[in-house]
Amino acid sequence: MEAVTVAAALGFLLLAGAGNSAGDEAREAAAVRALLVRLLGSGPAANFSVTVKRSLAAESGLDTYRLSGGGAEAQVRVTGSTGVAAAAGLYRYLRDFCGCHVAWSSSQLHLPQPLPAVPQELTEATPNRYRYYQNVCTQSYSFVWWDWARWEQEIDWMALNGINLALAWSGQEAIWQRVYLALGLTQSEINEYFTGPAFLAWERMGNLHSWGGPLPRSWHLKQLYLQHQILDRMRSFGMIPVLPAFAGHVPKAITRVFPLVNVTQMGSWGHFNCSYSCSFLLAPGDPMFPIIGSLFLRELTKEFGTDHIYGADTFNEMQPPSSEPAYLAAATAAVYQAMTTVDPEAVWLLQGWLFQHQPQFWGPAQIGAVLGAVPCGRLLVLDLFAETQPVYTRTASFQGQPFIWCMLHNFGGNHGLFGTLEAVNQGPAVARLFPNSTMVGTGMAPEGIGQNEMVYALMAELGWRKDPIPDLRAWVTNFADRRYGGHQQGTEAAWRLLLRSVYNCSGEACSGHNRSPLVKRPSLQMNTTVWYNRSDVFEAWRLLLTTAPTLATTPAFRYDLLDVTRQAAQELVSLYYEEVRTAYLNKELVHLLRAGGVLVYELLPALDEVLASDHHFLLGSWLEQARMAAVSEAEAHFFEQNSRYQLTLWGPVGNILDYANKQFAGLVADYYTPRWQLFVGTLVESLVQDVPFQQHQFDKDVFQLEQAFVLSTKRYPSQPQGDTVDLAKKLFLKYYPQWVAGSL
Ligand SMILES: *[C@@H]1O[C@H](CO)[C@@H](O)[C@H](O)[C@H]1NC(C)=O
Ligand SMILES: *[C@@H]1O[C@H](CO)[C@@H](O)[C@H](O)[C@H]1NC(C)=O
Ligand SMILES: *[C@@H]1O[C@H](CO)[C@@H](O)[C@H](O)[C@H]1NC(C)=O
Ligand SMILES: *[C@@H]1O[C@H](CO)[C@@H](O)[C@H](O)[C@H]1NC(C)=O
Ligand SMILES: *[C@@H]1O[C@H](CO)[C@@H](O)[C@H](O)[C@H]1NC(C)=O
Ligand SMILES: *[C@@H]1O[C@H](CO)[C@@H](O)[C@H](O)[C@H]1NC(C)=O
Ligand SMILES: *[C@@H]1O[C@H](CO)[C@@H](O)[C@H](O)[C@H]1NC(C)=O
Repeated sequence: MEAVTVAAALGFLLLAGAGNSAGDEAREAAAVRALLVRLLGSGPAANFSVTVKRSLAAESGLDTYRLSGGGAEAQVRVTGSTGVAAAAGLYRYLRDFCGCHVAWSSSQLHLPQPLPAVPQELTEATPNRYRYYQNVCTQSYSFVWWDWARWEQEIDWMALNGINLALAWSGQEAIWQRVYLALGLTQSEINEYFTGPAFLAWERMGNLHSWGGPLPRSWHLKQLYLQHQILDRMRSFGMIPVLPAFAGHVPKAITRVFPLVNVTQMGSWGHFNCSYSCSFLLAPGDPMFPIIGSLFLRELTKEFGTDHIYGADTFNEMQPPSSEPAYLAAATAAVYQAMTTVDPEAVWLLQGWLFQHQPQFWGPAQIGAVLGAVPCGRLLVLDLFAETQPVYTRTASFQGQPFIWCMLHNFGGNHGLFGTLEAVNQGPAVARLFPNSTMVGTGMAPEGIGQNEMVYALMAELGWRKDPIPDLRAWVTNFADRRYGGHQQGTEAAWRLLLRSVYNCSGEACSGHNRSPLVKRPSLQMNTTVWYNRSDVFEAWRLLLTTAPTLATTPAFRYDLLDVTRQAAQELVSLYYEEVRTAYLNKELVHLLRAGGVLVYELLPALDEVLASDHHFLLGSWLEQARMAAVSEAEAHFFEQNSRYQLTLWGPVGNILDYANKQFAGLVADYYTPRWQLFVGTLVESLVQDVPFQQHQFDKDVFQLEQAFVLSTKRYPSQPQGDTVDLAKKLFLKYYPQWVAGSL
């Protein structure tokens, strides 16, 4: 690909989605002012003036903000080339001049009085066209039950972090339902096809159908309405919402209505059998392909309007029926053509996950076929897991198609302290300097949110920097100071230990997927290896507790203290598990009873108790979200069960067992603890009776407990109980001295 074409391709993208009238500028400024009021209240908000001026951006058109005023001048002036740029400028001011912090768990917005001066007018431009956010899976793992109030908060967070490109995928099933009905499918055929709400991400990528369904009528109506609110708000900031498009997957019932249609049944996915996976893919050459694809997009854009960027994933984690480049090119071209039939300006946003997930299938010829099947500049690829397994490096920068360097970081929305901070910090700058780089943005593509906020704060900041953060240690100190609203030696030291251990992951054992024995079905083969020195976690725990007297009333501190206590407990579970296993293998019954007893009757209950002290870690709050999304008791029960499945068995028989594990009060007590109890009990029985431990039999028995938890209707508190600091200290005083003495 020639340099001139790359430039042309990128130039096209620069124009996509930017409204240019004075009306747009005024509307975007008003949206940022409203955000300011939500964030700070109307009094403090009155001391900021917000303006949007497209002309602030240089010829590059890249988002730019300008800050001035404050101090002796009452007003802080924030100007942005778009609403998003102004919001990012506002957050830059709050962060770097006021020492504030906005995060999922809790924000610290104590403003200095008077507002600090911006000594010299400060103008900052982002180095790239896009800051992207979301993964198709985030919609299911984190957003599935959200109401408008929660969405509003998230879109504010997005704006403040300068995100200008994000999926807006709610309500699409309501549109599909219209299309399928128009095509002659019956309502019951459609009901049979859709998954339940908690599994829609995988239905949308063709991985699954039917599981956990059907979708109630009320769901469609509420999601449609919600999607309108989401789109209005995103657009009001000048963000580009990415709508879904037809990727080729169809319900089986299409073949009843159109018996001659050419479909291929795909293989199974995620240990699901063909009752729930093995979806049908329409052949690219079939005349129905453009018909269905354009019916959907026409209906969708009629309902929601469009900003011309569409997402579709045909072969996500699924082996295509043929590895012939001609087939892959045709399958790709068909998706794109169905888009352009309706919207000639369409740009296709593709999750590049497939290429790195199945590298043995996706060789250079196969990748080339996909990338070459769409005109240059019209395929925007998300290099989804670029901090660990970048694809751009081995595809000559996606052969000239523009791409976004994304940090994936988290799988399944697991708790567990984790980060590859050095790789994240260096990654975007390295990608930008890659020969003939077609990088046009940075992104965050976590499967689930609400964890490891430091990692997301860093990534968001990198979206506005050309170079890496020069000193991560200094950066993390500043992060902690802002988070807690002041400097403490104890928190600084604690965060530096976390930075060099859990957050400095690289190499083999490094994973954003929590595989701690705590959250996994027990066996004698569990791997307790971690990539860091556990001492660092225990020391960070101790250091945070030393500052507890000073910071006890700071919400973010309490959250972090709990999170680090949780992490320490997770380490302790590994250590007690090792004791249990060793005792069993050495046939030391007393030793086994002692270690197993501490694990099951002391450690896990104490963990559950400390988790119960913060509403972020309550199973009751989590399930309440699902129940609140319902319009009847029957629906509430159904949604709750969807949610319980997702957290644990995932599928009917534990198909993707514990993938989306969380560490919630209630889940520890009623799911993880009973299975550890059964495990220890079975091992004891095995020694006493002198019969071998049979994993196969244990798996069958423990499944009964797991399933009983999912089907249970027990209600859990959605209000915290107990004092986090007291409970964390209690756990610490019991276990820390033993850890130090090496005598757990
Ligand atoms: C970059 O593009 C130029 C112009 O097409 C080409 O001559 C050069 O070989 C490319 N460099 C690399 C490393 O691909
Ligand atoms: C806003 O500005 C006015 C005028 O300078 C000042 O009296 C007031 O204290 C300021 N409020 C805040 C929250 O800064
Ligand atoms: C798929 O698995 C479910 C749940 O175990 C079972 O009920 C169903 O019969 C299976 N279907 C097929 C086609 O094997
Ligand atoms: C059905 O589609 C496949 C894949 O594109 C193609 O190889 C095959 O020839 C088609 N069959 C018919 C009958 O058109
Ligand atoms: C992370 O580890 C590497 C060595 O593996 C080291 O060079 C680097 O300084 C560490 N970074 C931090 C922030 O501790
Ligand atoms: C445990 O996992 C680590 C990191 O993935 C690996 O290096 C090690 O070989 C594993 N140990 C066992 C016993 O499987
Ligand atoms: C882990 O850290 C502790 C405390 O700093 C140290 O004594 C120990 O040697 C370290 N262990 C390893 C394996 O590096």
